[in-house]
Amino acid sequence: MHDHHHRPRRPIRPSRRQRQMVYLATGLLLVSGLAWLIAHFLLPLPEFAARHPLEPWAMRIHGAATMLGLAVLGGIWGNHVLGAWERGNHRGSGGTMASLWLALALTGYGLYYLADEEWRAIASWAHIALGTALPAGLAVHVIRAGRLRRAAA
Ligand code: HEM
Ligand code: HEM
Repeated sequence: MHDHHHRPRRPIRPSRRQRQMVYLATGLLLVSGLAWLIAHFLLPLPEFAARHPLEPWAMRIHGAATMLGLAVLGGIWGNHVLGAWERGNHRGSGGTMASLWLALALTGYGLYYLADEEWRAIASWAHIALGTALPAGLAVHVIRAGRLRRAAA
């Protein structure tokens, strides 16, 4: 019977399209971030170039993926993040995901606007460390969610 004293349960699982967009944005961020790292640290500089020509291209894609990712995060915030948190499901890996996105946005903002060399270097290394943790965190989160869903089915 429908209980009128309780609000209907919000759907917690991100929709199919939202899941695809989470994976697309995360994948683009990872691939473009890795491309920048390879171009910056591993590839030989072409003659007379101040930086490898691949770097600005990697960051153009990275910036676009950031905008997509933050829009997708906003889309799943109300139902998924807050809803799952209220129910107390997967608070560890989910809370880690939300914190990583926030910290990556903050350190990424620092990379745009910090002029001081030392602070910029700190933001850069923090960002790269957090960025590497993001896909791993998402994998853990999604695998755990899948296990619980199959156990409940
Ligand atoms: C406090 C924060 C969060 C909590 C407590 C949480 C909790 C959960 C729970 C309980 C599920 C299983 C849902 C179900 O099967 O009905 C799930 C799945 C999922 N979560 Fe989160 N989550 C959080 C944040 C995030 C964030 C920030 C992202 C991505 C940016 C994310 C991405 C996903 C995705 C893609 C799935 C679907 C996995 C699948 O069913 O294939 N979550 N989460
Ligand atoms: C929530 C996800 C992320 C956000 C919001 C984000 C945002 C940003 C922003 C705004 C920049 C500065 C762009 C520029 O200088 O033109 C940046 C740079 C960078 N990001 Fe990310 N990023 C994210 C995830 C990642 C991931 C997953 C990696 C993978 C390792 C990564 C690696 C890098 C690298 C290597 C740079 C260049 C660092 C530098 O210039 O010193 N990012 N990111």
